[in-house]
Amino acid sequence: MDENDEAIRTPIVSVLGHVDHGKTTLLDEIRGSAVAEAEAGAITQHIGSTVVPIDVIERICNPDEEFDLPGLLFIDTPGHHAFTTLRSRGGALSDIAVLVVDVNDGFQPQTVEAVKILDRTETPFVVAANKIDAVPGWKTQEDAPFAETFAEQSERVQNDVENALYEIIGDLHDNGFQADRYDRVNDYRSTIGVVPVSAETGEGIPDLLMVLVGLAQRFLTESLTTRPNGSGEGTVVEVKEKKGLGTTVDVLVYDGVVEVGDTVVVGGQLDPIVTEVRALLEPSEKVEINEEDEFNRVDRVVAAEGVKVAAPELDDAMAGAPFVVVGEDDELGDVTQRVRSEMDEIGVETAEDGVVVKADTVGSVEAVAKALDDAEVPIMNASEGAVSRRDIVDAETADEREHRAVIAFNVDVLEDAREYADEALVKLFEGDVIYRLIEEYEDWVEGMEE
Ligand code: GTP
Ligand code: MG
Repeated sequence: MDENDEAIRTPIVSVLGHVDHGKTTLLDEIRGSAVAEAEAGAITQHIGSTVVPIDVIERICNPDEEFDLPGLLFIDTPGHHAFTTLRSRGGALSDIAVLVVDVNDGFQPQTVEAVKILDRTETPFVVAANKIDAVPGWKTQEDAPFAETFAEQSERVQNDVENALYEIIGDLHDNGFQADRYDRVNDYRSTIGVVPVSAETGEGIPDLLMVLVGLAQRFLTESLTTRPNGSGEGTVVEVKEKKGLGTTVDVLVYDGVVEVGDTVVVGGQLDPIVTEVRALLEPSEKVEINEEDEFNRVDRVVAAEGVKVAAPELDDAMAGAPFVVVGEDDELGDVTQRVRSEMDEIGVETAEDGVVVKADTVGSVEAVAKALDDAEVPIMNASEGAVSRRDIVDAETADEREHRAVIAFNVDVLEDAREYADEALVKLFEGDVIYRLIEEYEDWVEGMEE
């Protein structure tokens, strides 16, 4: 096989949704039922992700036709903040998404936010209408497909479930998406499938996996090609200090191959970092957490896979930044330039006079900036990290009264910053739902005009 040969890689799946609607439980359940169905060792736990091989999925959901994807890779850090951070060449890193909605609770602010993100990034998704087991009167049949367990419910329970699904379908419609219960969808291109599930009891999970694989298989196959011998490309998911290894990066490799000894370019705080891969680490099967045994060293990884990379000079690496192997035929300068321009794209357009933005990740800084741009609010300064006194000082310098504000998304406000904000009459907006923050800001500005 030469480096131009192509194969279909594992699609990358993210799980999004409102707080407590069951993202983590759903991932655990999928992992658990996969482990139960798999031969020993077949489920590989990767760094920041779990790969469920296709034969395991086939055993769980008994499809009529054979699937020809290698499996599904679930990103383990659920939540839309991770989602916005994880990008590949300017787009979303995830190929498909599962939007989890508690069927008893319906759409909530972060559900709306997640839908907006999926819309903006044009990410195909399915809705997992979760916690059907908590509908009063539900009779559980562990791990059963939806049709089977639904048929066993009383008429009243069936009606309650249908009504709850209609609510969700209506909310999707209000957000610009046509949707229906998944077994009533004719064309997944135009209609979002809603799959009733229980992450607690496993009911409906076979259906959810089936719809996910179908979606990936039918609509994404073209974009899922990878060059199994081409030079690797990935996204930094996390930057972490590791005893004995120094600063390491957890990378989701979405194309090609990464090998020990490869020269790589990684997006950094100021400039692209050029370094050499010292070690590639996967979680060890061993249970004892003793630093020596925590990881297995491997010589190479092939997309899609999550891996921890040890290399010198990684202190300035950033979550959300590109990670690119310099291949034999590549010029280092070209690769560096490409990484630099991708990092610039992540950057935010700033104005002389505007508000200050702080957010928890590169991706969320960008998401807040995008939302402010849509609302025609100029930004003077935008960066990652907690709100410090320095940020308040910056905001204080704004000429317009309405720009003396800090929009703080999902970050802490340091004590001296809060005190100084009071003194300096700088208004702080804090929260973890972007559009809410913007609404609050707009209300404040409106109040000022009156
Ligand atoms: P955050 O990470 O905090 O946003 O929450 P999450 O979306 O990951 O939710 P999590 O999986 O932690 O679930 C929240 C609560 O709901 C937990 O107490 C779960 O046990 C419960 N839960 C999740 N799924 C189900 C379900 O299908 N049925 C029932 N009855 N409870 C569930
Ligand atoms: Mg969780």
